[in-house]
Amino acid sequence: MTLRVVKEVAAFRAACDEARTRGVLGLVPTMGALHAGHLALVQRARELSQTVALTLFVNPTQFGPGEDLARYPRDLEGDLARCREAGVSLVFAPEVSEVYPAGERTRVRVSELTEGLCGASRPVHFEGVATVVTKLFAAAGPCVAVFGRKDYQQLKVVERLARDLLLPVTVVGLATVREADGLALSSRNAYLSAQERAAARGVPLGLSAAAAAFQAGERQAEALLRLARQPIEAAGLALQYAELTDADQLTPLTGAVPERALLAVAAHAGRTRLIDNLVLGEDPAPIAEAAPASASQGSPSGAVR
Ligand code: PAF
Repeated sequence: MTLRVVKEVAAFRAACDEARTRGVLGLVPTMGALHAGHLALVQRARELSQTVALTLFVNPTQFGPGEDLARYPRDLEGDLARCREAGVSLVFAPEVSEVYPAGERTRVRVSELTEGLCGASRPVHFEGVATVVTKLFAAAGPCVAVFGRKDYQQLKVVERLARDLLLPVTVVGLATVREADGLALSSRNAYLSAQERAAARGVPLGLSAAAAAFQAGERQAEALLRLARQPIEAAGLALQYAELTDADQLTPLTGAVPERALLAVAAHAGRTRLIDNLVLGEDPAPIAEAAPASASQGSPSGAVR
């Protein structure tokens, strides 16, 4: 299969219009530095579509001041090779000025869903994501668009904007792809030193401890959160949040949690921000062998094998 690479919106739109005459068009929006998690999104898009288009665009508006926009990993040639191998037909790799033309004034803001979790510490982030995803949907007109569940709040924001703006696209969320030790794949993992990478395992350990306790019948939010926090803090990571929320509305839960609830965490390993989540009652534990535990049990090593 030949891969077509376009840099202009007009060429991207024309190629997508043409692809749609041949069947379902699937879109995989990315910021590049593609890894196995992105390739799983492509694979899912291929199962659902006749043509897969992928976007490579490090979107400046979703980075706040002092965040990692300048150092975000960029590898166009490597990404194109991975796209070719994965069966992508069309890549859109625009310059910033193509997506944000001079004088542009429009932003897309999804209220409420964006206020908690990552939105609390990254106030401009979801507005940037919602804006660029809306632009990419407007340019491509995809029938299906595939996003990873690792960015669970982002997935909910995209689902909501597609629904609220009456966009004729089916948004599909795909399970998080993990390293053998449970760490969620992320382009930002490339920033981690060997020591930080080892400590990062505290994140899937924390989620797994809570998942095991949930599985064993624990329903008290505070107890589940304590189990999630312990391995993260014991690994020396700086926990930013560990929260339980409604899995669809993302509203915080306290007291007894329902049979399906989002457990989401963010922590820093050095300067690198790690996020991860699972939907209790729906997703498997990131580390399958995590032992059942109760919050009243002591140390994280007691909670998780
Ligand atoms: O998840 C990402 O890589 C980005 O947030 C997205 C959806 C491509 C928007 O820039």
